[in-house]
Order: sequence, then C-alpha cells, then structure tokens
Amino acid sequence: MKNINAVILAAGEGTRMNSKCPKILHRLGSKPMLGHVIDNVQAAGIKNIFIITGYKSEMVEKYVGDNAKCVQQKKLLGTADAVWQIRNEAALKEKNARLLIIYGDTPLIRALTIKDLIKKHYSESVAGTLLTVNTKDPTGYGRIVRADGGNVVKIVEEQEASVYERAIEEINVGVYVFEANRLFKAIEKIKPDNKKKEYYLTDVVQVLHKENRLINVVETQNHNEILGVNSRFSLAQAYEIFRMRILDEIIASGVTVLDPKSTYIDEKVTIGRDTVIYPCTMIERDVVIGENCSIGPFAHIRSKSKVCDGVAIGNFVELNRSEVGENSRLKHQSYIGDTKIGKAVNVGAGTIVANYDGKNKNKTIVKDGAFIGSGTILVAPVKMGKNAVTGAGAVVTKNKNIADNTVVVGIPAKVLKKKK
Ligand code: UD1
Ligand code: CA
Repeated sequence: MKNINAVILAAGEGTRMNSKCPKILHRLGSKPMLGHVIDNVQAAGIKNIFIITGYKSEMVEKYVGDNAKCVQQKKLLGTADAVWQIRNEAALKEKNARLLIIYGDTPLIRALTIKDLIKKHYSESVAGTLLTVNTKDPTGYGRIVRADGGNVVKIVEEQEASVYERAIEEINVGVYVFEANRLFKAIEKIKPDNKKKEYYLTDVVQVLHKENRLINVVETQNHNEILGVNSRFSLAQAYEIFRMRILDEIIASGVTVLDPKSTYIDEKVTIGRDTVIYPCTMIERDVVIGENCSIGPFAHIRSKSKVCDGVAIGNFVELNRSEVGENSRLKHQSYIGDTKIGKAVNVGAGTIVANYDGKNKNKTIVKDGAFIGSGTILVAPVKMGKNAVTGAGAVVTKNKNIADNTVVVGIPAKVLKKKK
C-alpha cells in the first residue's frame, strides 16, 4: 500500500453540541473524538495525515501537535470544500497517490475496518472505494443509491432524498479511499445545489459514475462502528459502545466484571486473571491491576496507579498515582494519593493520605506489613517503616517518619512503643 495518505475532516463547529469547544475535541473516554480517529488511522498504517481545521482552529492545532499536518478551511462550505483545501499538497500530486477520507466525528471506526477498505481499494482498479452498512435505522445518514445491476450510482443526503430514497437501508459511513488525482478533478465539478448550499463530498460518487468510473463498496457488518457523533446524545451513545468494547476485551481476558453497566474502565488498562471488579467502579487509563484482586464496589482507581496480585480494594476507596503491593488490603473509605504501599499492608477504614499541602504533591511510603489504624491521616511527605502501626485516629505529621516495628498514636502521632 504505497502512496496512501489520509485526511480527517474536523473543521465543523458541531452546532448541535451547543458548546464553546469544537465538536471533535469533546472527549470519548480519556481522549477527544479526534484523538481516536488519528490513532485509528495511524494504526491502519497511514503515516501521512492531514487534518482540516476551521472552527477554533488554534484549539484543534494545539491538540494535534506533531501527529498530523493541519490545513485550515477558511469558510465552512461543505465536506467537498474541506477536502479541496489539500489539493496542492505535494504528496497528493505523486503518481498513483491515494487518499483515505474520514470524518473527525466517527471515532468508533476501527483500524482493521480502515485497513480492509484500503486493501479492497488496492486489489481492484477503481476510482474510489467506500464503506457502507445496512441498517434498519438510516436516519441522518447519506443513502447509497444503486442501479439495477448493483453498481453504486450516487449518494443522496437525507435532506435531498425522495421518499423512495429515504427507505434505502444502505448508508454512507463516511470513509472513502480515492485515487487523489481523479478525486480532485471530480470535486471541481461539484455544485452546491442542495438545501444547505454546501459542496457535498458525497456528490463525487455521482460525478465519477457519470464518467463511467467504477466505485467499489466495502459493506461492514459491524454496526457498532458507524455512529457519527452529531449531538451530545450521540456522544453518550458512542461512549457506551466504546466502553462496552473495552469491557468485552477485559472480560475475555479472564476478569470477572459483575455489573458491566456500572463499570467504567478506560483504554490502556491491564487487569490480571481472576480479578473481580464489583459494581460502580471506575478505573482510569494507564492503570495496571494484578491477578486475584478484588476491586470495589464503588472504587475509583485513577491514572498511573499500580495494584499488585491479591490486593483487596473496597468501598469508596480512591487510589491516585499510587502503588499497592501484593496482598495488601484497603477495604473501606480511603484516599491514597502519591503513595507507595508495600506488601501485606492493612489500611484501616477511613485512612487518608494528605498528599497536597497547597503547593506541592508530596510522596508517602508505607513499608511491608504495616498496619494503619482506622481514621489515620498521613501528612505527606512521610514514611511508615516495616510492620509499623498507627493507632485509630492518629495524625502522622510531615516528615515524622515512623521507624520499623514502631507503634504511634494520637494527634500529632507520638511513639507509644516498639514491637518485639
Ligand atoms: C456526512 C455525510 C453523510 C454520511 C455521514 C456519516 C456528507 C455531505 N455527508 O454527513 O453522507 O452518512 O457524514 O457520518 O459528507 N466538515 C468540515 N468542513 C465543512 C463541513 C464539514 O470539515 O465545511 C467536517 C465536520 O467537522 C465533520 C465532518 O466533516 O467532522 C462531517 O460533517 P457533518 O456535517 O457532520 O456531516 P453529516 O451531515 O454527518
Ligand atoms: Ca456527522
């Protein structure tokens, strides 16, 4: 697959989002919709990526950074005009250059689907290849109009569709591969003669058909990929699909999730076999959890935390940028931030690590075998030694490190005794 480039259309405001933030920068899980599209296009093997920006282009450019080349569309005249902005790019003028077009508001289309589309395009000599799906509810999408023999004749947008065309159940997903040179020649012929007075990219299909150029179709069966996010409601629907996709993988890898409906796990989370996730639990990205753990109900494991094998994390426990060693237990109502907890530590109910002093986030270390009494506050930075103990309600103040095998009690905590 030589000479393949991609363009992601992301210039629209997304008026129906009713937001100050461009639509494609709204988050789907831990990253914006646009981030998903960029990642999926890259994972499909395309290196040269253009992004068409328009509404609040500085915000979009800042997010994109070095991941792609942003090109501005000054006036939002439609999807064909958006693609037109890159007509003079050197990479697209090369012999046999191909262009994959995808919209920034379709974050669920997988890399594999994009790859299949490209493969099909290269396997046959056609001017363009597009992705379609058959759906019982085609509302809002462009409909694929085929001639009697099955060849695609045109795509008609919903607003322009006749009653007969509206009943067509094959829709345009909005991902296409075109021969670049042919594409720009076709775009030149498009006129904005539709209700929105826009230059519709979808009209290139009819232009190419009239020139007797072949258009190929890849029909995907995966309805869960096609959703175009046009409103906050469809963003919520998209997130639901994305969330279930992650949960499916996690469950298949040997994790018990008792109530998928109330479990929120981001991408880039690893969970070991035979761990059980109880209801109403949220686990953020870049978290690693070991085998045979018990997490929740009502637990919140935040980014960059690590939980080793055999750990129990119970009700209303929040773990933030922290590590918990093997077989340690944090069963009830705790906040643990910037902390490294060793093996077989018991963290009593209501333990709080005060990691933030108003200026800095400070570190806490709790060594193997320590026993933290209920309602202890550890004011960071502080260290608890091996097998050290705090009495219930102790407040261990900054830098008042507790030595190994030592018991402290009170406010501020003072040494009660040394254990034998
Ligand atoms: C588009 C397709 C429709 C398809 C659907 C799939 C067209 C004309 N219609 O409809 O056939 O079924 O997607 O989800 O293409 N954009 C620009 N510049 C513009 C206009 C739009 O960059 O001038 C961007 C938007 O930011 C958006 C994308 O293009 O990311 C698609 O535009 P949108 O208005 O959402 O098109 P749909 O009506 O959803
Ligand atoms: Ca859309």
